[in-house]
Parts: sequence; C-alpha cells; structure tokens
Amino acid sequence: MSASSEAEERRVGSADVEAPGRIWFGYIAAVGLVVIGAITTDLLAFGLAGVMLVATVLGERYRARVAARLAADRRPDLADLVTRWARGWAFARYFPRPERVAGGVRIEVGEPGRRVEWVAIDEPETLSGLVDTVAATPEAWLSVATADPAGVRPWLLEGGLGSDSQEEALMSIDLVDQVSRDLPDGYAAEIERDGGRITATVRSAGKAGEVAASGRIAVIGADAVVDRIHTEPDHRHRGLGGAMMTVLVAAAREAGATRGILVATEMGEPLYAGLGWQEQARLVIARPATPRTPAESHHQ
Ligand SMILES: CC(C)(COP(=O)(O)OP(=O)(O)OC[C@H]1O[C@@H](n2cnc3c(N)ncnc32)[C@H](O)[C@@H]1OP(=O)(O)O)[C@@H](O)C(=O)NCCC(=O)NCCS
Repeated sequence: MSASSEAEERRVGSADVEAPGRIWFGYIAAVGLVVIGAITTDLLAFGLAGVMLVATVLGERYRARVAARLAADRRPDLADLVTRWARGWAFARYFPRPERVAGGVRIEVGEPGRRVEWVAIDEPETLSGLVDTVAATPEAWLSVATADPAGVRPWLLEGGLGSDSQEEALMSIDLVDQVSRDLPDGYAAEIERDGGRITATVRSAGKAGEVAASGRIAVIGADAVVDRIHTEPDHRHRGLGGAMMTVLVAAAREAGATRGILVATEMGEPLYAGLGWQEQARLVIARPATPRTPAESHHQ
C-alpha cells in the first residue's frame, strides 16, 4: 500500500454510507404542474412547479445531511477504540499504561521477542512513520487495525516488516446486547476481583475440580476489555466459552462497564460473533522477525 489517494479512500472507519434515494414524488409533481401549466396556460401552475422543484431539492439535501450525521454517529472512531482496547488490555495484563502516539498507542509488553508493541490504525500519514520505527526497533511488534488487510500487508513488507498470515479481529459490543449462555451441568464458575480486573475460573465438578476454562475482563470506566479466554481442549464445544463470557460480562456490568472491547483470535471470533459481538476492524500483526507459528497467540 502506498500513501496514495486509494489508501485514503479505504481509511479505517470510513464505513460506506448509503445515500438516501431521490424524492421522485416531488419531481413527478413538478413535471405534472408544468404540463398542467402548458395546457391551461396558467402561470400559477408554473409557479407551483418551481416551488415544488426547489422544495424537493432542498428536501433531498436535508435528508442526505441527516443520513450522513446518523452514519457518523453510528461509526465508531477506530483510533479511539484501539486506544481504549489497548488501555484495558495493558491494565488486564499489568503492563504500564500505553503511551499515545500519532495514529495509535505504544505498549511496553516486556515479553521476550515482544518488548514493545505499537497498535495503530492504517492512516497512511502516521503508519509509514510507525513502520520505519518498528523496523528499526529490536523485539518490536506492530499491529494495524484496518478494514483492508490485503492493502496493508504489502506496505508493511516494503517497510521491512513480515506480517502473519493469520489476522485477529477487533470487536465490540454494548454489554446489554451480549447473548447469555448457561453454564453446562457438571461445572462451577468462580469470580475473583482485583480492582477492575475480574477473573473467571470454570472448574469441572469431577476430577478434583480441575480448571476447565478461564478468562478475564478488565474494567476501566465504561469500558470492559476481555482477555485470555481459554477453554482446555478436553472441555471445548460444551458451552463453557459462552457461559464464561456471560459470567464475566455480568460482573463487568456490576462494576459499571457498558461497552465491551476485545481482540479475537481466529478460534475465538465465531464464539464472540455468536454472542452478538460486532467486528470493527481486522488486526494485521507485523514484526521484523520471522512470523509466528499458528499456535502462538497475540492478544489473548
Ligand atoms: C475459543 C474458545 C475459548 C472457545 O471455547 P469453548 O468452551 O469451546 O466455547 P463454546 O463451547 O461456548 O463455543 C464454541 C463452539 O461450541 C459450540 N457449542 C456450545 N455448546 C455446545 C454443545 N453443548 N455441544 C456442541 N457444541 C457446542 C458453540 O456453538 C460454538 O460453536 P462455533 O465455534 O461453531 O461458534 C476455545 O476454543 C479456546 O480456548 N481456544 C484457544 C484459545 C483461544 O483462541 N481463545 C480465544 C481468544 S480470543
């Protein structure tokens, strides 16, 4: 991807806005009045036709403005969402508070091979600078939130970064909208709170209460960021993931959160989508080193 107008067009967050249709009735009525005027030679009919035409055009403009405003209100501000997610994710993991940079955030992850990570949107003006910075920084990662991963990858490559073939998904939800799932029989869930960090552990009733699933939600103000949702392989596809999300979201709402944000792995995406979460962007992960193996996890 080059910093071209094409890239500008697919700028993150620029969701397509469907333009409202024409007010055909107004045009037809205006033409009808012109015809009546021509037949009757009545100037009033011509005058009314003019008024009808002007009213129709003004009505269309007003409708278009209202539609654009509604679409803008509905469209999440992706840079803001990325920043809020990063803040909650870092909090969930006890990382230092992320630093805001142009186009995104910088997070001190402090893990081997991933000392620092930038998470940014695909704004050409800011991303090109970040690509250079990441390429020149040892043990750095760059995650790019975008509507167009295929457009971003070549650009990362040109900047000397390899991107993983797997993507993640930045998702969000109004917490009241999450579908509830009951815990299946034979399991019990516990909740532990550490400030705004809420951890759920699901144990199997048998086998001396072995841990079958676990996950965390971090509450910062109105935001609840989901992290490390995991079901042990032997216990998958029994509804534990959905039930654990139900328990976590209930606890987050009790703590005052209203909005859920998460970054989903390919495995997690169908689970969250089934619970009502909406994808807001794809996340392309890049780094100067060799791409990860599929077994590694990025943000969960
Ligand atoms: C993603 C993950 C947490 C899902 O956990 P899970 O306990 O299997 O989740 P659920 O059982 O609630 O739902 C998973 C699927 O099982 C299905 N399912 C739920 N109850 C079921 C039942 N009783 N019988 C059969 N299938 C069932 C669900 O419909 C869902 O189907 P889908 O994947 O086609 O949407 C788990 O696969 C995992 O830990 N993966 C590795 C780590 C990871 O990627 N975590 C996600 C981070 S974002």
